[in-house]
Amino acid sequence: MSSHLYDHPMVTQEKWENFTETDHETWNFLFKRQEFVLKSRAVDEILRGMKTLSICNTHIPKFSELNKILQKETGFSLVAVKGFIPEELFFRFLSERKFPATCFIRNPDQLDYLEEPDIFHDVFGHVPLLVNPIFADFMEAFGKKGLEAIDHGFLKFAAALYWYTVEFGLMSTQEGLRIYGAGITSSKGESIYSLESDIPVRIKFDIRRIMKTQYHIDSFQRSYFVIDTYEQLFKAIDTLDWEEIKDTCLFFPDIEQGIIINSQEKI
Ligand SMILES: [Fe+2]
Repeated sequence: MSSHLYDHPMVTQEKWENFTETDHETWNFLFKRQEFVLKSRAVDEILRGMKTLSICNTHIPKFSELNKILQKETGFSLVAVKGFIPEELFFRFLSERKFPATCFIRNPDQLDYLEEPDIFHDVFGHVPLLVNPIFADFMEAFGKKGLEAIDHGFLKFAAALYWYTVEFGLMSTQEGLRIYGAGITSSKGESIYSLESDIPVRIKFDIRRIMKTQYHIDSFQRSYFVIDTYEQLFKAIDTLDWEEIKDTCLFFPDIEQGIIINSQEKI
């Protein structure tokens, strides 16, 4: 473990005792609302992960307690950060099985939308899947490939890949389409929209297609990419060779959101 990673000014310590009654009430409101929305919409692994981690509505979870369980299950742990951190640092943490998570919660007047991630997005949204061994392997592999992408000047493409999987991914299951992306699971509106609206297109997972697809950070997505299994996701990232797909990155034009380019890619 490289200790200098922790010297960055955005890395901090969770001061759980500083959360106020209002903060815990905000967590309680958001948790209960999403628990109801996700019951028939999220992948089973998320609901199971919450149980394993004892994440519940009554209080904001403590990183130290989550870390004990995460360590035991997959060797992951949370690193408290103040907000967005540089991409290189972010990928470096992932490559060491550490997940940077914010340790503040939104104000009561920001229940439906917040520009930057808070603890509800990071812990409710991202952490439950970190107890899944294959997803944990995928996140570590992503960290390594993300660092390679920076070396190649391909950060933009790694970011699109992260966006359309970790943040906004859908999975095809026997029960139908389900959500696993944290950007969706931490948003009531997008949880319903991503599965039920006729506006967005839902496209089979394809790493090159994803990397060329534009995305917007300030509105619901108009394209979603659908995986079949976490094994598929892990394998695609683990075997990703930036040299091999250099031509796709450099010469293929970007694809707008919300369009299907051939009928076979459609779900
Ligand atoms: Fe996120």
